[in-house]
Amino acid sequence: MRICMVGTGYVGLVSGAGFAEMGNDVVCVDIDKAKVERLRQGEVPIFEPGLDELIARNVKAGRLTFSDDTAASVASAQVVFVGVGTPPRSDGGADLSAVDKVAETVAANVKQETILVLKSTVPVGTNARARRIVAKAAHPIHVVSNPEFLKEGEAVNDFLRPDRVVLGCDSDDTFARDIMARLYHPVCLDKDRIIWMAPASAELTKYVSNTMLAMRISFINEVATLCEKVGADIHEVRHGVGSDVRIGPKFLYAGPGYGGSCFPKDVQALVQTGREHGVEIDLAVSTHRVNERQKGLLPRKLKTHMDGDIRGKRVAIWGLTFKPRTDDVRESAALTLIDVLLTEGAQIVAHDPEGMPKIREIYGDRVQLVEDAYEAARGADALVLLTEWRQYQNPDFDKLKSLMKRPLLLDGRNIWSTYGLRGQGFHYEGVGVRSE
Ligand code: UDX
Repeated sequence: MRICMVGTGYVGLVSGAGFAEMGNDVVCVDIDKAKVERLRQGEVPIFEPGLDELIARNVKAGRLTFSDDTAASVASAQVVFVGVGTPPRSDGGADLSAVDKVAETVAANVKQETILVLKSTVPVGTNARARRIVAKAAHPIHVVSNPEFLKEGEAVNDFLRPDRVVLGCDSDDTFARDIMARLYHPVCLDKDRIIWMAPASAELTKYVSNTMLAMRISFINEVATLCEKVGADIHEVRHGVGSDVRIGPKFLYAGPGYGGSCFPKDVQALVQTGREHGVEIDLAVSTHRVNERQKGLLPRKLKTHMDGDIRGKRVAIWGLTFKPRTDDVRESAALTLIDVLLTEGAQIVAHDPEGMPKIREIYGDRVQLVEDAYEAARGADALVLLTEWRQYQNPDFDKLKSLMKRPLLLDGRNIWSTYGLRGQGFHYEGVGVRSE
């Protein structure tokens, strides 16, 4: 099939390369000429394990190309996917101008009956809005909503082996249903994996999924706070609770607060959508509020250990990205910690396997970044772990103790909680774990 993927961001590149891998003829389009040129040279602008190889293999096979000519690219495609950005507006809503522009370009250029697939995360009602834009085109344009559930760091695998593919499409639109079913067939051999629904339901499914996951995290983070007060341990509680098959053990890990480009934005978007329709979604409001409080947890713990005064203290941070296997620091708990430390006059020395360039862009030389994780700990009054990168899982604790000025470890991911570190001369604190 001839596919055009508009937008070479995260969703666009992974999906474009993924569809090419399934044997389709895919052109990925972006208005950013320099980016298209870099892609043509084989440079992949985002960090995502396995994506470089996937792109290179399909470019070589001639199934994947890049273009900055949206009009020509959409004209020759049977299916046009929209993977452009929908940044938040100042009032909390999403800016849909890029989506509108693609719909207008498709409407003005189609040469055959075409399917327009909305893959960007968009507010409920965007499918209907796109239909109005393409209504008067020279050929019929079918608008389908196909939200993306990719996780950063696992996006290639998520695309090629999805749990489910959600397709919002009119039930009597056999043209769109046949083509979309064929397109996803290679990764959905098990037919139940394709879930057909009304467009508005598909749009809502994305926000509800992410808010539900975020809600679990905020809830377990609140429970972790209670654990510390009552002498319970969050690992034990999680195990006990998550063993109920109705609940399950995933996304119940206490931590420094969730981050990333999706959860914070999508929880807020669900709240906003509710308000636009006179529905106050209290649980989503609380999920966000609890998370904001949680991001202040490690700064608070740190200050408590320093008798409220962190001025002039040297604080080491391990992990800056919002989770491992990404270079993304958006909404990361590290940003909150860094902001507090800078405001209160502490000195910061940080390490992250992939996230340091983005932190440098934000903070310049106000945060000292080091290539060797142990260097960060040299002379430190505390070491705060924020991201559970594998390389931090089992460090040389003797070395750490000899390097640090004061052996205070604040483990925001509870990865060292079972090592008996208090017995080895450390002040150790996790999130909701029992004192040893
Ligand atoms: C998420 C959704 O999982 C994905 O389906 C959607 O398409 C985009 O948003 P992503 O943002 O890549 O994906 O990250 P995810 O792995 O879900 O983690 C989000 C945040 O929650 C991270 O900061 C992570 O550390 C945190 N988290 C996750 C916890 O604190 N505890 C957990 O138990 C799980």
